[in-house]
Amino acid sequence: MMPMTPEVMKKQAEEAELMHKLIDLSGGAVQKSRALVAAARLNIAAAIGAEPKSCEKLALEVGCDEECLYRLMRALSQIGIFKETEESRVFENTRLSTALAQDNFRDLVMMTGLSCNYRAWEVFPETVKRGKSDLTEVLGGIPTIWQFLKTRPEDEMVFGKAMSALTNKLTPMLVAQSDFTKFDTVCDLGGSQGTFISAILRANPTIKEGINFDLPTVIEKNKLNEARNKQLDPRFKEVGGDFFKEVPAADCYVLKNTLHDWNDECSVKILKSIASAMKPGAKIYVYDFLLSNEKNENLSSVVWMDLNMLQLCNGKERTLANWEHISVETGLKIERVQRAPKENMTSLVIFTK
Ligand SMILES: C[S@@+](CC[C@H](N)C(=O)[O-])C[C@H]1O[C@@H](n2cnc3c(N)ncnc32)[C@H](O)[C@@H]1O
Repeated sequence: MMPMTPEVMKKQAEEAELMHKLIDLSGGAVQKSRALVAAARLNIAAAIGAEPKSCEKLALEVGCDEECLYRLMRALSQIGIFKETEESRVFENTRLSTALAQDNFRDLVMMTGLSCNYRAWEVFPETVKRGKSDLTEVLGGIPTIWQFLKTRPEDEMVFGKAMSALTNKLTPMLVAQSDFTKFDTVCDLGGSQGTFISAILRANPTIKEGINFDLPTVIEKNKLNEARNKQLDPRFKEVGGDFFKEVPAADCYVLKNTLHDWNDECSVKILKSIASAMKPGAKIYVYDFLLSNEKNENLSSVVWMDLNMLQLCNGKERTLANWEHISVETGLKIERVQRAPKENMTSLVIFTK
């Protein structure tokens, strides 16, 4: 037996720490992510509400095995989601889990938990080697996330709700900071459930027509959404199509968190298709994250979003230099850049002919 000298003990403790750190960084993310998504799906935060609640009561309310629920809550409490009170096995909400009790935040967590997201990441090392993501194998023979979602209407609905949730959170700031006063027709390309164009119309009575443009399957599904349809502005119109082929004529095109889904080659094609439909003097408003050009140790979580875009759809988050490259490739000019105060907030890049 090796003698347990203080030096040996110290080395062992250091190695245990390294081991746990590496395991946590490599596998812990999956466990934490799955645990958080489970909490969102079970809607535990809403079940706790404003008062602490025992695991026994919670298990009955959300329909779970009490012991497993306790272990889930204990683990999530380690990362700031829920907090065990002085009283054993009684939990209360934290700032994070209180957010999770709200539909918009919950929708976003449910989206990141979609099976296509987890499957996609299985082949990330191949993406880094090849310089391109190919999900055909992990998505059971379907090449893209968009086509995969079409085969899973429930997942597509979760995705759509999450997109609307993002928009609901961002809308007031983005609409307030953008000038739509000179446009008769504004068209949101890849507008999903039409939340953003609806908000633009609400804030801009001078716009004559607001078009929500998305894939025909998305538009068909929107038309079945009676609750939403009841609230629609009479100026709201919906068009299904493919923005690589043809888009409606408009004075202003809005692309919010849409071009980051596509690589430069595809983004150039989309912008060229817009360029051929633009009315004279029309503008293109691109709302996306704007990464700083500089090497910066304080880069935000957007660099992780960038990897996600790469893996899920060969997309990317862009720097201003990246947008300048796209401007050269499309022949469109960058008229103005409205950089958000923080990198993890959405910026606006305006293109014109
Ligand atoms: C990331 S979502 C952005 C949704 C919305 N702009 C927002 O910020 O909430 C991208 C949208 O582009 C749509 N889309 C993908 N390919 C498309 C295509 N070829 N033509 C039109 N829309 C497309 C998707 O259906 C999806 O709604």
